[in-house]
Amino acid sequence: MSTETDLVILGGGSGGYATALRARQLGLSVTLVERDRLGGTCLHQGCVPTKALLHAAELADAARAAPAHGVLASFDGVDMAGVHAYKDRVVERLHTGLQGLVKASGATYVEGEGRMVAPRSVEVDGQVHTGTSLVLATGSRPRSIPGVELGSRVVTSDEALRLDEVPERVVVIGGSVIGVELASVWRSFGAEVTIVEGLPSLVPLEDPAIGRQLERAFRRRGIGFRTDAMVRGVSSSASEVAVTLEGGDVLTADLVLVAVGRGPVTAGLGYEDHGVELARGWVVVDDRLRTSVPGVYAVGDLVPGLQLAHRGFAHGIFVAEEVAGLSPDPVEDADIPRVTYCEPEIASVGLTEPRAREIHGDVTTYEYDLAGNGKSQILGTTGFVKVVRQAGGPIVGVHLLGTRMGEQVGEASLMVNWEAFPEDVAQFVHAHPTQNEALGEAALALAGKPLHAHGRS
Ligand code: NAI
Repeated sequence: MSTETDLVILGGGSGGYATALRARQLGLSVTLVERDRLGGTCLHQGCVPTKALLHAAELADAARAAPAHGVLASFDGVDMAGVHAYKDRVVERLHTGLQGLVKASGATYVEGEGRMVAPRSVEVDGQVHTGTSLVLATGSRPRSIPGVELGSRVVTSDEALRLDEVPERVVVIGGSVIGVELASVWRSFGAEVTIVEGLPSLVPLEDPAIGRQLERAFRRRGIGFRTDAMVRGVSSSASEVAVTLEGGDVLTADLVLVAVGRGPVTAGLGYEDHGVELARGWVVVDDRLRTSVPGVYAVGDLVPGLQLAHRGFAHGIFVAEEVAGLSPDPVEDADIPRVTYCEPEIASVGLTEPRAREIHGDVTTYEYDLAGNGKSQILGTTGFVKVVRQAGGPIVGVHLLGTRMGEQVGEASLMVNWEAFPEDVAQFVHAHPTQNEALGEAALALAGKPLHAHGRS
């Protein structure tokens, strides 16, 4: 038995299903193959459940803070079963909605484990599905540290999202996105948390100002961290787990989270057998997401670079339009907004200051302190908006830190992607009192006419 469609897509996560939906809009016939649940990592093990946990964490913090605002409430503890019920309801609602969308699109949905068996064919349970084009969208999974064995006390983010109890003491290995988000949740839920990061600062991929301020904020929250500290070994006993650092220090905990990155899911799927070039497991593509095999594309986390659901969506839309002959513009990682939902939140788009200096030479920056922003004071958050402009030129990077500042990344993204000058942005009136005003204030300052001058160049 075999089927033939314009597109066969292997993997129904953010990249795969976005390809399917856009391709159907363009009138292409589509077969979408998924072995687990439609929606992939983002919906089931990543973005959505983590952000639900972070919202529960925010409520715990709000309950603690309530009396200081004259509201009579108290924090009495966390019922993890209740937290999971809430999180799972959100995931299920979105999952049902997504299933409806894919069904309504007219794509053929095939449930089962797929494997590439010819240059543009995938076999699922003995049935071969051949496409004029094939899209590889099998995503990523958590990586571990060589020699570190995962188990009940040593977990990745997959297990961390399903814990029955709040651990008393946690060591988080890796102080980047997953590490700081889950550290934030556990601290709000009452745990003692220590993060171990091999590089010199937390969130090392962000602008250095973000790392410095996040460390200050985490210190205030009582989140411990060790930077410049590589983990050399982890050993578990029945009652606890010990993490040995380079240099010999040992940290003990009830639970260890390994958050040292995610690797591509490409092994054993027949990719290399049929000529798809891989590099350390990642699929090698050109800027039009073409693999080494004609007619075969890759999207999402399989493609080296940012591992973000919205990058997967953008890749999927790109490939569908490319196959349909619309010649879309390539998706550039540097233009993609990034949000880390720890408390305080981090958001950024475009170049960090050091990278902007490397590329553009002379740059000007302005850091507007949220101490001057009314809404941020109402929320009780500290933080800043940092805008980086090419000297005399457009804005090339925006970096945000503070409670809820993730929501401000939209305007930041327009500034960078439309290559706006601060003078252009300064023309627009920003609503008061909003946190969004801080972006307007930074633009006013860079345009030489600061209003509430609460920042520095
Ligand atoms: P990552 O690759 O961003 O960071 C891993 C960190 O672990 C690095 O800072 C590295 O220096 C450190 N590290 C590695 N080995 C170490 C060792 N032996 N000892 C101490 N530190 C060590 O990986 P992460 O945070 O696991 O995230 C994976 C991916 O998922 C990322 O691409 C991230 O962007 C994405 N993600 C995005 C989210 C968002 O957009 N909000 C949320 C969660 C994940």
